[in-house]
Amino acid sequence: MTDIRDDVAATFTELFGYEPSGLWSAPGRVNLIGEHTDYNEGFVLPLAINRRTVLALGIRDDARIRIGSEFADEVVEIALDELAPDHLAGWSAYPLGVAWALGEHGADLAAVPGVDIYLDSSVPVGAGLSSSAAIESAVAIALNDVWQLGFDRQTLAKVGQLAENRAVGAPTGIMDQSAVLLGERDAAVFLDCRSLNDEIVPLGFAEADLQLLIIDTGVTHAHATGGYADRRKSCEAGAATMGVKALRDLTIDDLDRAREVLDDETFRRVRHVVTEDQRVLDTVRVLREQGPRAIGELLDASHASMRDDFEISVPELDLAVETAQANGAIGARMTGGGFGGSAIALASSSDISRIQVAIDGAFAEHAFQQPTMFVVTASDGASRE
Ligand code: GLA
Repeated sequence: MTDIRDDVAATFTELFGYEPSGLWSAPGRVNLIGEHTDYNEGFVLPLAINRRTVLALGIRDDARIRIGSEFADEVVEIALDELAPDHLAGWSAYPLGVAWALGEHGADLAAVPGVDIYLDSSVPVGAGLSSSAAIESAVAIALNDVWQLGFDRQTLAKVGQLAENRAVGAPTGIMDQSAVLLGERDAAVFLDCRSLNDEIVPLGFAEADLQLLIIDTGVTHAHATGGYADRRKSCEAGAATMGVKALRDLTIDDLDRAREVLDDETFRRVRHVVTEDQRVLDTVRVLREQGPRAIGELLDASHASMRDDFEISVPELDLAVETAQANGAIGARMTGGGFGGSAIALASSSDISRIQVAIDGAFAEHAFQQPTMFVVTASDGASRE
């Protein structure tokens, strides 16, 4: 991390010709369990990971924003009073969308100074590890500090979500930004996506000699288009037919009635969400009562539900999960929005390399692109450096 921080500060100075006033950073996240439950006002259990976006920021004496990054050649420049979600495009829609969204939440953008921002990230893009929420949240806490807005982290999560929904155009929920802003070392964030109450749940992976392996399939996904929005619509339709505000309001006991009144596809979408909410509650309970070695079946069941009922897995994710399970993982599942991205496998430290070799072999056998694999640890959320 020290390296990225030094580089970011140095590149800022090179690019803008003066030294930044500070550095801020925010992690990526991985979801342990609770998929497509956030926008159904249900439960999620993500963790912040030890890969971060770092930014350097300097204050200007006019009302313009300039923003550069390691992953684009151009520096984007815009006046604060020109920020509008429909005019933002490309990678800069994430950070600039946040500046706009702070205004929507009550910041007086006519009264704050312009800023220069340079950012770099070690969160892989397109892996389903919320590289976008990491950027949004780093920018959100930085601007909240230098503009002295006084928003709490729950509000900053909503700011990031609004930027993602309106400036980027992805109809995503509140999970990613919440994980990135509220995460803590060696713990997961148990979030009720209706009340937005959060609890920190210790994971105890290290004590149990467990590691969490990410298997990035390299299959790309884009939530601004396609399947993600379709799934969200099915859930809303299912809730409306069942006469509830959100699928959060249904329990397993309601599934018999759901089967009668819903078409088969909508029923299976609903069954995934209702059973997944229950699995999150069960995972939290099992973690507390029995420890992390006992949560494997819940992870496995979550994957089966996403593959068969919600139908958001892809052959690469299924193969990664099956191979991990067959080679000693305690539990494995695809993670994130689906249609590509990453799977996770929870396994004893001594089994991790065997699992990696087996997955590499299985992917080669199926002529799939070689996946990227790495172990992550649960880390602290966004902060000033
Ligand atoms: C994406 C979205 C989240 C959430 C997950 C699925 O990561 O950004 O809000 O809906 O998919 O659980």
